[in-house]
Amino acid sequence: MSSILTLPATAPRDRLHRPLHDLRISVMDRCNFRCPYCMPRSTFHEHYQFLKPTERLSFEEITRLVHLFVEMGVKKLRLTGGEPLLRPNLTELIAELGAIDGVEDIALTTNGVLLEKYATELQASGLKRITVSLDSLDPGVFTQMSGGFQGLEQVLTGLQAAQQVGLNPIKINVVVQRGVNDHTLLDLLEHFRGSGIIVRCIEYMDVGNRNHWQRQHVVPSKELLQRIQACWPVHKLSGNYHGEVAERYAYDDGGGEIGFISSVTQTFCGSCTRARLSSEGVFYTCLFATHGLDLKIPMRSGASDDELRELIRNAWEQRDDRYSELRSVQSINASTTHKIEMYYIGG
Ligand code: GTP
Ligand code: 5AD
Ligand code: SF4
Ligand code: SF4
Repeated sequence: MSSILTLPATAPRDRLHRPLHDLRISVMDRCNFRCPYCMPRSTFHEHYQFLKPTERLSFEEITRLVHLFVEMGVKKLRLTGGEPLLRPNLTELIAELGAIDGVEDIALTTNGVLLEKYATELQASGLKRITVSLDSLDPGVFTQMSGGFQGLEQVLTGLQAAQQVGLNPIKINVVVQRGVNDHTLLDLLEHFRGSGIIVRCIEYMDVGNRNHWQRQHVVPSKELLQRIQACWPVHKLSGNYHGEVAERYAYDDGGGEIGFISSVTQTFCGSCTRARLSSEGVFYTCLFATHGLDLKIPMRSGASDDELRELIRNAWEQRDDRYSELRSVQSINASTTHKIEMYYIGG
């Protein structure tokens, strides 16, 4: 894993002195699920206008931008969606990104439905590791949380395929919602104990404006930890790298690692070095941004690399985002603040 101490001298710092180190790229705004907390069916129905293929950044455009971002300090890439495996020929992009000097880590976040089909190809393209979103192993709860889709068996088979080809470490993201899936978490943990797969419990967040988030739906990590400790004693592990979002724990009996991402109760904006690029080519400096910087328009109007670099640098140097911190101190009204949607820029 890289260290932010090795950033180039020319790397920009934001107003809170945070460098730019990670770029999360949404390669596809569509998804084959309709998780109510992310893409509720009421909005994302059959007539919803997703981007046209020509409106999405091409692989050439993404690669060009990544070259510029790497010059500014980015070492870590995460491909997200929507569902990234719906993007045709994704593995060609992964191979191109992997060949860029300075890219140290490429990961992919997927819902896993298409993973069995693509695992071998993904591994061959140079992808290092994957993270699978999986909220419950209870078929009814799974279907409720995916917005009416079956697919649990496919996700589990996909995970096995990913393990077989060595897309390690495999992580599972569980968004925990009180009264929705929190009662199925221990079963899920038990299933993956001893498998080498790392389960991370994520506090449900107020991303976007369509998920009707309420604070009482959040199960604080502390509470989850207590419930887990009552079954299997765990101990804390030290962090892997500066700015890591997950707090890591391990089962005392050697059952493996689990993580907690406490974006609501223990915010981590102070060390946030993450930027996001939407499938449409808009650059965002925070998951909760209200606006972004369009890079596609200048690129398609003939902007030079120097001009693009300047735009990105300025945006980063202006950055003072710390939404999660402000949410805790100011109790921002989550429903009235206009924010971009998660499906559009990935998690
Ligand atoms: P690795 O350590 O590289 O494996 O990734 P990660 O721990 O950053 O995890 P991942 O990218 O899978 O993100 C997991 C979840 O953490 C996301 O789905 C979000 O819910 C949350 N998250 C990630 N980055 C941010 C962030 O910058 N801000 C907030 N508030 N939440 C984040
Ligand atoms: N709160 C927390 N995490 C979320 N994700 C999607 N919506 C939310 C939310 N409201 C996570 C999913 C997935 C990633 C893309 O983002 O678990 O792993
Ligand atoms: Fe799709 Fe992931 Fe959003 Fe669910 S959380 S709708 S799987 S992008
Ligand atoms: Fe970074 Fe914004 Fe998340 Fe804070 S809320 S950690 S600034 S993306």
